[in-house]
Amino acid sequence: MGATPLVGLPQRSFLRKLPLTRQERGIAMAIGRERRLIRAGRAARRGRLATGALAWALAVAAAFAAPVAAQSPLWPEVSALLSERCVACHSGEFAPLGLSLDSHEGVMAGSENGPVVRPDDVAASPILRRLRGEAQPRMPLDGPPFLEPEQIALIEGWITAGAPRDGAAEPAPEPPEDDGIVTFADVDAILRQRCIVCHSDNGRMAAPPEGLRLTTLALVLRGGDRVVVIPGNPDASELWRRVVGHATPRMPFDGPPWLTEPQIETIGQWIAEGAIDDAGRPAPIPVGAELRLRGSVTGPSEIDGAGFVVTGATRVEDRLSVGMEAEMRGVVDAAGGVVATRLRAR
Ligand code: HEC
Ligand code: HEC
Repeated sequence: MGATPLVGLPQRSFLRKLPLTRQERGIAMAIGRERRLIRAGRAARRGRLATGALAWALAVAAAFAAPVAAQSPLWPEVSALLSERCVACHSGEFAPLGLSLDSHEGVMAGSENGPVVRPDDVAASPILRRLRGEAQPRMPLDGPPFLEPEQIALIEGWITAGAPRDGAAEPAPEPPEDDGIVTFADVDAILRQRCIVCHSDNGRMAAPPEGLRLTTLALVLRGGDRVVVIPGNPDASELWRRVVGHATPRMPFDGPPWLTEPQIETIGQWIAEGAIDDAGRPAPIPVGAELRLRGSVTGPSEIDGAGFVVTGATRVEDRLSVGMEAEMRGVVDAAGGVVATRLRAR
């Protein structure tokens, strides 16, 4: 672990004049909030510094040197950790609560609720409270796994040292790769940032609504009370119907803002192309799974563009006509189509 970085801390010229090593000086600056040291510094500038006060200032610096240096991680380590576990959600236009964790500036700017890092009262820092699960939902939101105790200690040590930024350049954000193929990874990024705050066990809600968890491909395909993805058939897939606004309430439930057009298209395309995993394998069709479509009748056997087959076994409770609001219950057939079991007006 290196010396406490100098950049980002109050530069006090008096400290530079004291016979300190670079590291001691850095530490002395880090504890610059120690009023007496600052006062000693002011006195030094005004030439009124007694030898005793200088000796005292050095003693303070030395006393803090060992422990503080031992727990003063450099920003690059903290930044690397945030990039790995937080930035997928906490960046960009939809950063939750406006909290961007992709730069030192963003971390220090905090969220719409205020600062998340509080060197003045380290334990009260919202970031630490979220990481420890003292404030809910616990972060990272897509945990478990949550951070290791040593990783939380790293962030705590960095805040204790005054949350400095060293001179090293911020890692440049990776340009999004666009190979034209939509795999689950593309959809996952959207679900993580906009949906799992409710649709997970670590969410804002007591239980995921409709039993629907959107945290892994297997869970997305399994659905909750009903399947929400029929590979190859986005029109009949509740996941797409909710984000495009065919089915209500539209998702995300806390919108607007809704998903962007490109995000909605990504989800639609992913389903249309077979809901492929990251290795390019299409998802199996959930033959026999039950589903429910509620929306506007757009054709003789069609709700919001989603066609279905009516058979002799379909229970037709109301005659449907175009423009009516209706509900269809049905099952998925082997080709990814839908066979209606019940039709009624709403
Ligand atoms: C999967 C998306 C996701 C990930 C990953 C994630 N967060 Fe969050 N974070 C959220 C959401 C959504 C909220 C808002 C939750 C709420 O409604 O309280 C939030 C809220 C927070 C807050 C609360 C801010 C405030 O004003 O109270 C902090 C702090 C925070 N996250 C830090 C982190 C840190 C640190 C990490 C990484 C270790 C992380 N988050 C990873 C989605 C995420
Ligand atoms: C703020 C909480 C919240 C967020 C964020 C959220 N949802 Fe929901 N979701 C709900 C609730 C509540 C329901 C149940 C609504 C109803 O039908 O009464 C629901 C229902 C659904 C359903 C219907 C499930 C079924 O079986 O009928 C789907 C699909 C869905 N959400 C997908 C999403 C997607 C995709 C996102 C992100 C783009 C998202 N949700 C974001 C709260 C949320």
